[in-house]
Amino acid sequence: MKLVVTGGAGFIGSNFVRHVLARHPRYTIRNLDKLTYSGNLHTLQDVKDRRHTFVRGDIGDRRRVQEALKGTDAIVHFAAESHVDRSILDSTAFIKTNVLGTQCLLDAARHAGVKRFVLVSTDEVYGSAPTGEKFTEESLIAPNSPYAASKAGADLLARAYFRTYRFPVIITRCTNNYGPYQYPEKFVPLIISRAVKGESIPVYGDGLQIRDWIHVMDHCSGLDAVLHQGRDGEIYNLGAGNEWTNLEIARRILQLVGKSDSLLTYVQDRPGHDRRYALNSDKAEKELGWGPQITLEDGLKQTVDWYLSNDEWIRRVTARTYRAYYRQQYDQRASTMKKVLTRGGKK
Ligand code: NAD
Ligand code: DAU
Repeated sequence: MKLVVTGGAGFIGSNFVRHVLARHPRYTIRNLDKLTYSGNLHTLQDVKDRRHTFVRGDIGDRRRVQEALKGTDAIVHFAAESHVDRSILDSTAFIKTNVLGTQCLLDAARHAGVKRFVLVSTDEVYGSAPTGEKFTEESLIAPNSPYAASKAGADLLARAYFRTYRFPVIITRCTNNYGPYQYPEKFVPLIISRAVKGESIPVYGDGLQIRDWIHVMDHCSGLDAVLHQGRDGEIYNLGAGNEWTNLEIARRILQLVGKSDSLLTYVQDRPGHDRRYALNSDKAEKELGWGPQITLEDGLKQTVDWYLSNDEWIRRVTARTYRAYYRQQYDQRASTMKKVLTRGGKK
């Protein structure tokens, strides 16, 4: 199979590239990535296999995309602006890449006769899950952040390309990923990289928001299953059933890093913050025989160990522009910061 992966210099895309090269000895991968702040060639430094080629380009650049898609059998589309907080500061790039970029890619893929297009969407398109409920693929979508709305735009567009043109699209909606190579603006690597330096850990609001955490390699095996066994025009939820509050996750990580809970610092909440994400993944289990294999205990330990032994990667990918962004974000929130003395066992 000649595969094009978009966004393969980012967190999930680069892990997927490694997964495919290891699992499918006859596949070639063309990796189309713009290398924004969150995409970096250092992330692919260990990928030496000649079946993988890197093409720098924007998914919204029609010519570049047409060129990259020549002879392609299938696409797994990861490229996106992916961070909710950034979308709250300015959603322009989110609309450009996630909506218009996806439209450009869909059109080019349709004209190039691509036989399978997997759109990597997100559970955030459903909005916040009420207590006791889990979203199925039939649930209404109700995105709450500009990021989620832009992903919902891409998701609906892909659905429409199947309905209108019978273009063979499959949509996946996965929960919160963690694992190696995740940009340290996201919660898990942010905690690790700040805790190591003894810096405070910003906890938004009361820290009782719930996320369902999945190891990135479990997400990759789900995407592999969808790519090979999924049905055209279908949506597949990919969840792990690992619901934890942000405080619980932060405490577990601090324990693994060997730091005290006193680093936890409550800051102003994220506007429009979704309280809970929860997915019903029965369809993927029944149709694809897929299920997550990595326990949160093992996955978090492996992830913490990876970050602790890859501080050079963190240093290289966190450029000056990122540090400026982070200071802006954090200083704003810190102005309403309440330092809370955490007591053992307090949630
Ligand atoms: P990431 O930010 O780590 O990586 C995104 C990659 O896309 C980067 O390499 C970046 O350079 C590239 N990119 C951005 N704009 C581009 C453009 N215009 N043209 C070409 N390349 C571009 O993101 P991630 O966490 O790896 O997420 C990958 C995908 O998975 C996204 O579509 C995201 O919405 C989805 N997703 C993420 C999670 C999660 O927990 N991280 C969960 C579910 C779904
Ligand atoms: O659910 C899937 C989504 O998961 C993906 O679609 C997104 O691309 C990905 O970024 C992630 O979105 P979240 O907003 O859930 O992830 P983030 O790591 O930004 O935050 C996780 C939770 O932790 C969330 O409730 C906000 C909170 N948080 C985050 C940061 C960065 C904090 O309390 N403090 C922080 O400093």
